[in-house]
Amino acid sequence: MQLLMMGPPGAGKGTQAVKLVEKFNIPQISTGDMFRAAVKAGTELGLKAKACMESGSLVPDEVTIGIVRERLAKDDCAGGFILDGFPRTVAQADALANILSDLGKEISCVLNISVPAQYLIERAVGRRICKGCGATYHIKYNPPKGEACDNCGGELYQRADDNEATLRQRLMAYEESTRPLIDYYKASGVYHEIDGTQSIEQVTEELIRVLATVQE
Ligand code: AP5
Ligand code: MG
Ligand code: ZN
Repeated sequence: MQLLMMGPPGAGKGTQAVKLVEKFNIPQISTGDMFRAAVKAGTELGLKAKACMESGSLVPDEVTIGIVRERLAKDDCAGGFILDGFPRTVAQADALANILSDLGKEISCVLNISVPAQYLIERAVGRRICKGCGATYHIKYNPPKGEACDNCGGELYQRADDNEATLRQRLMAYEESTRPLIDYYKASGVYHEIDGTQSIEQVTEELIRVLATVQE
């Protein structure tokens, strides 16, 4: 199953992708996570991505498309994958269509987690991530039991771009470049919109209901 997980910053793409990885045993491919790992490792890719991410703008298409093309060619993607946060521009969506056609695959389902802007600042500012295992928490909606990560005891941190000023820039980038993809994919017949203002568990249930109707 080739799934696209779409939605504005803080909509719950990563949270839900992790649940679907467990259920369907296919990898999550988050371009944001790939860029953050590259920044941390200080690679050339990290250098290209760092300033864009810190300002809340998009990393250039040619850089992003290149890393996705490489990633989708790996063996673990043969049985399907969940793209989280890609494509984010029409150029990326066109490139994805070409990449998939070269691989003899097509998009099984586009899952758009729809959340109005007024929820998103609180979601991003309250997010905490584990340094050890990458688990995502929210101080109000999905709090850890104590100060540290429930899974591994790791220290929790806030993403550098999870402040109100950068989130506003990320929302502007979403409106300008990514929202147009809704109409792009509505025409495809595999587009589904999910109400992301529900609880994390309710959103997961709805996603699984939608995916039960999808042809592989
Ligand atoms: P990326 O890492 O993809 O960030 P984003 O799109 O802004 O999305 P987030 O990861 O912030 O949110 P999410 O939807 O995953 O929400 P989450 O599940 O964590 O990209 C970062 C940057 O990298 C971009 O700004 C750009 O610079 C660059 N980049 C990445 N991809 C790119 C591309 N394709 N092209 C160009 N540049 C690219 O949830 C958020 C919080 O809410 C958590 O605390 C969670 O616990 C909580 N929560 C989740 N669901 C619910 C719920 N239902 N109810 C209450 N709380 C909830
Ligand atoms: Mg994410
Ligand atoms: Zn952890």
